Amino acid sequence: MNSFTVFALAAAVFTDARPVPHPLTLVSRAVNDSNIYANWPTYDQLPLHPSFPTKAAWGVWGESDELGSLNHIRNATILAAKSEIQLGRAFNLNLELSMPDPPINTNRRPLIHAIQPFAGYQDDVITLNTQISTQFDGLRHFPYSTNLSQDTYQFYNDLITFDDIMAPGGSSTLGIQNAAQKGIAGRGILLDWARWMDSKNATFDAFNATTISTVDLDAVATFQGLDPATFASPGDFLVVRTGFTQQYVALAPHDQAILPYREGNDAQFLGMEASDEMLRWLWDKKLALVGSDNPAFESLPLGLGFIDGVQRSLHQVFIGGWGQSIVEFLNLENLAVACHELKRYSFFFTIQNLNVVGGIASPPNAMAIL
Ligand SMILES: *[C@@H]1O[C@H](CO)[C@@H](O)[C@H](O)[C@H]1NC(C)=O
Ligand SMILES: *[C@@H]1O[C@H](CO)[C@@H](O)[C@H](O)[C@H]1NC(C)=O
Ligand SMILES: *[C@@H]1O[C@H](CO)[C@@H](O)[C@H](O)[C@H]1NC(C)=O
Ligand SMILES: *[C@@H]1O[C@H](CO)[C@@H](O)[C@H](O)[C@H]1NC(C)=O
Ligand SMILES: *[C@@H]1O[C@H](CO)[C@@H](O)[C@H](O)[C@H]1NC(C)=O
Repeated sequence: MNSFTVFALAAAVFTDARPVPHPLTLVSRAVNDSNIYANWPTYDQLPLHPSFPTKAAWGVWGESDELGSLNHIRNATILAAKSEIQLGRAFNLNLELSMPDPPINTNRRPLIHAIQPFAGYQDDVITLNTQISTQFDGLRHFPYSTNLSQDTYQFYNDLITFDDIMAPGGSSTLGIQNAAQKGIAGRGILLDWARWMDSKNATFDAFNATTISTVDLDAVATFQGLDPATFASPGDFLVVRTGFTQQYVALAPHDQAILPYREGNDAQFLGMEASDEMLRWLWDKKLALVGSDNPAFESLPLGLGFIDGVQRSLHQVFIGGWGQSIVEFLNLENLAVACHELKRYSFFFTIQNLNVVGGIASPPNAMAIL
């Protein structure tokens, strides 16, 4: 009996106890630093305690952990990934910070960039909603909730409340500074769904709520010559190219301007399917991060899928449940061209978030090197 089983049994004992004591005092996995996957729970074993929200990984990295899936990145993970650098070709993965313009969510203000002139030199000042362009969603961004109600929120490991975030001079717990200070690098893997669709002469519309399934993603891997069972390793950054950027940049300026204002379904975009199959597929790969070129990784609008029988988005389970950040609106165009040329879909990557104490999200300053 491994110690995970012990915890699971302990959890079962508490199932009927009411009121449920503070859950974090009940269950967390003992993490062995020299063997971090000892006692690693399967997707079906999540959550570790029945009082935790849908498929949460609370306690998996310890009860007060603030790094979540970034814990998959070890010194050895980064060291092993150096063999991905074979040609010295570096690719910026960030859109221009002012793009998309106007922002896809019209409640978000566009970038403000001001030049501040002085006699003989100048500075500039930027005011940025970190959710408008290429972005790394931090663990303060998106909690579990019912109907987006603030009364039912639950952040990763239950460490903070909305009031903690809003309080002046309040805590910085789960802030983006953790991801900035961690040091994020390793092996990235590209799955080019859009190219696979093109190869079949299949048409698709990135501005429609089409969902990409795990069956699709396995087929993309096979199309790229990868073995779906083994192409990913613990600590990898998995990026999916959906064709959003390609379709967006091809729009005429007026069509870009009206895209966020589409009648009725102004937030429909293709993306990953929110389902147990998708979550199990990702959980088993032990990824540090997921990313894509579309607005939300998953399809929009959020919350149409069912996870463990409950209407949930991937955002809730990733960010609130697993402590897994999502990198959105990546610019994968040049990287994808090079990967297809070389028939190689893994690369070294680095991400350096802004070191903003208590921040919610950040431009990732993401780079790939082949
Ligand atoms: C941690 O893992 C190492 C390597 O597998 C093992 O030698 C050691 O006994 C483990 N420590 C504990 C406390 O289980
Ligand atoms: C990396 O190595 C340093 C120095 O030995 C150590 O302090 C740190 O815990 C290691 N980090 C990880 C994530 O393995
Ligand atoms: C809130 O969510 C519950 C459960 O999904 C649903 O039954 C209810 O209609 C929702 N209420 C509102 C106001 O959307
Ligand atoms: C896709 O269309 C091109 C051009 O019409 C054709 O040559 C090719 O055979 C088609 N591929 C498939 C898989 O249907
Ligand atoms: C948009 O999606 C719907 C189903 O969700 C489909 O019926 C329709 O054909 C799609 N439109 C385009 C242009 O792909």
